[in-house]
Parts: sequence; C-alpha cells; structure tokens
Amino acid sequence: AQRKQIDEVLALFQLTREQLVDVQGKMRVELEYGLKRKTHPLATVKMLPTYVCGMPDGTEKGKFLALDLGGTNFRVLLVKIRSGRRSVRMYNKIFAIPLEIMQGTGEELFDHIVQCIADFLDYMGLKGVQLPLGFTFSFPCRQTSIDKGTLIEWTKGFKATDCEGEDVVDMLREAIKRRNEFELDIVAIVNDTVGTLMTCGHEDPNCEIGLIAGTGSNMCYMEEMRNIELVEGDEGKMCINTEWGGFGDNGCLDDFRTQYDAEVDEGSLNPGKQRYEKMTSGMYLGEIVRQILIDLTKQGLLFRGQISERLRTRGIFETKFLSQIESDRLALLQVRRILQQLGLDSTCEDSIVVKEVCGAVSRRAAQLCGAGLAAIVEKRREDQGLEHLKITVGVDGTLYKLHPHFSRILQETVKELAPRCDVAFLLSEDGSGKGAALITAVAKRLQHAWK
Ligand code: BG6
Ligand code: GLC
Repeated sequence: AQRKQIDEVLALFQLTREQLVDVQGKMRVELEYGLKRKTHPLATVKMLPTYVCGMPDGTEKGKFLALDLGGTNFRVLLVKIRSGRRSVRMYNKIFAIPLEIMQGTGEELFDHIVQCIADFLDYMGLKGVQLPLGFTFSFPCRQTSIDKGTLIEWTKGFKATDCEGEDVVDMLREAIKRRNEFELDIVAIVNDTVGTLMTCGHEDPNCEIGLIAGTGSNMCYMEEMRNIELVEGDEGKMCINTEWGGFGDNGCLDDFRTQYDAEVDEGSLNPGKQRYEKMTSGMYLGEIVRQILIDLTKQGLLFRGQISERLRTRGIFETKFLSQIESDRLALLQVRRILQQLGLDSTCEDSIVVKEVCGAVSRRAAQLCGAGLAAIVEKRREDQGLEHLKITVGVDGTLYKLHPHFSRILQETVKELAPRCDVAFLLSEDGSGKGAALITAVAKRLQHAWK
C-alpha cells in the first residue's frame, strides 16, 4: 500500500509525449505573442530586444572589464581579446553577495558591486586605467540600446529595493561616481543567455541560441528583424532575450502543475511569477523535492513520519546535492550519508524513495525545458522555410553542467519533439563574461550603428 501511495505522487511528475507536445505548442504561441507590438494582455514570455545584432566574427580585439551578476557567483573579469578566433585570455575574481545586500537597497547593492570592482582593479594592478566594461546582468531588462537597460522585475533570489523600473547602467554609473575613485566606460548591458550565446558563437558560427539551465532558466536566440515589431527596420537579425521563465504565469501550464509547485511558488520571493522557471531551474528543484518529502512524511511514508526542523528549512537541497543524490555511481549508503549531512536521518528505504523523488522532479524539469527548446528550433526552421535545420545551442548553468541526467534528457526531448532539426549543444566553458566582453568589443567598433 505504501508503494502505491509513493507511486501516485511520482506519477504527478510523469509527462506523456502528448503533454510535452502540448507544452511545446503553448511555448510557440507565447514566443509569437511576445514579438508583437501590442503585446497580448496574457503574454508572459517577454521577448526582449537586446540590440545585439550580430555574432562575433573573430576580428574583435582589446582589453575589457566584465561583470557577471545574477548566477551562482558574482564575478569581475578582465578579458583580453586578440583578433583571430579563440584567442581570449581571462582573469577573474569571484566575490560574495551577502543576502542582506541581495535584499537590501539598490544603492547598497551597487555600492557593493563597485567596491568589488575596486578590489579587483587593485588586485590586478589596474587602478587608474580606463577600460570599457560589459555588464552581464541576468535579469529581465527593457532595452532601447545596447547600453541602456531598465530592470523590469527581479527574479531568483534578488529583491533589492528601488531598482525595478530604473536603468541599471545608470545605477552602476552613479555608484561609480559616489565612490569617486575611478572612471569606467560602460558600453553594454547583456543578459547571461546573450553572453553565453556570444561566448559559444565565437567558436561555432552555427550557434544561434543561448540557454541557461542554472539557478534560473532562460533562453535567447537570433530572430529576423522583420519579425520584431517593437524595433524599427527589417534587415538582418537581432538577439531576443525571451525571459521564458515567465511562461505559464497566465495559467497555461496549470494542467501540469502540482500542489508541490504551488507550495514552492507561494514560499518564493515572487509568488505567481516565473512559473516555468520554478519547474525547471536549480534554485527551485530542491524546493519541490523538499515539499514532496514533507508530504510523504506527513503521510507516514518517510522518515518514520517525523518532520524534522531541517526538513522544514527552505533551500537545503541545492543543485549540487540533487546532482550527488542522483549520481548513478553512488551507492545507497552514500545517498544516506548525503541526507545525513543535510541533517536528515534516513533508513535505507527512505534513501531509495528520496532518490526516486529527485529523479522524477529533475526528469520533468529537463523534459519541460526540452519542450521549450523544441518550440524555438522549430520556429527558426519554419521561419527560414527549411525542410531541415542544423543549429547549435550554447549552454551554461550548474544544473546542465553538474546534474548527471538533466542534459541527456533535455537533448533526448528536443530530438523527439523537433525531429526535423539537428540540434547540437555546445557547453560554454568560459561563462558569459567572455561574451559580454566580445559584445563590448563589437559595440565599441560599431558604436554608431548600434545606437
Ligand atoms: C555562468 C555564467 O557560467 O553561468 C553566468 O557566466 C550565468 O552569467 C551562470 O548566470 C548560470 O548558471 P548558474 O547555475 O550559476 O545560475
Ligand atoms: C532568470 C532571469 C533571466 C536569466 C535567468 C538565468 O530567469 O530572469 O534574465 O537569464 O534567470 O540566469
């Protein structure tokens, strides 16, 4: 009987092929809505123009600073590009952003960022050198040019006050002025998906999609200008930051959402928002698992029916733990040890169930993400009137990189749902800071054309 109850819960996370085709179709509709001038009242996938109109061609060169804010790590980088493909040298330093700063005031956040830049310049012996800077800022921004970006709303774990509705480039400039110690030329603001696309596009000219499966989930791609109603001009292409994490915020995914998804949403910093992201990204998968474990424990099916304080604690299952628990090389004893480290005392049976729960949640995440990706590659194929499309997706993010099964299931799903597309996946080894520097280089060169 116990087994049956557990299976019933796991079954909520199993999607049929028909359901995935349905998700793919709904994503396709949202992608099209988002490109319209008059956005549909129920449109949730923002489809933000980025003013990045081409890929690096290998002639970029120079020395650049880059910031990378919004993923697991905040980095400051120095990127030296020599012309000729692949010739890039990077120096970077990771800085912590304490929770009080992530959720304090905007001024404090940007003062902290500038403090980190100052430390980095000191460390590199670069004080007094004026370098162009590319800012990877992994949140939805409304752009009107490559160096302007108004934060629409915070996502993931950030909630600093007085930033939403403001131009974050201005906020950074003002913080630099407040400090009055050095000058920087902020040339470009770039989403992490776009930075990833450029990093990968530098190596593979077929790369036209950037995907992040990490703390958050998002995708960008090169769209035909004629399809982008919000931007003048019909020639060439522009990169669109889809912000697909908001897919489902109008209720269109409700058939697939479980009570556990609803609980995770309610306990988050942005209830009702980013529903697709909350089903597919590293920041939330562990929380879904935790909600299921609480429920199974309540039903007396786990942990001897005792809900420990630990299990009640938000955020205990980070992506790295999920990845370890699901690793095939791991004996159950080791799973138990991980649970023990998390403060969860488990029996051998418990650890089997926990592993199954993790598997069901991460599999659904990879499939949902694959259905989204299938929608975009099919759109690109149809838009170009091709029978067959060959395309590369540049990818980054801890979930994709660390999880033992996520990337494989994602790829299988795309193959299954978009059989006329030959989709290659290129892992970004260098992060999106490199891409931000490449964009900065191109923007400097084309300053007039891109403004
Ligand atoms: C990094 C990129 O490698 O991956 C960041 O440089 C990006 O820009 C990050 O935000 C995404 O992954 P995660 O798992 O750190 O959120
Ligand atoms: C969130 C952000 C988005 C970012 C993604 C991945 O969805 O809104 O801008 O690209 O996380 O980091």
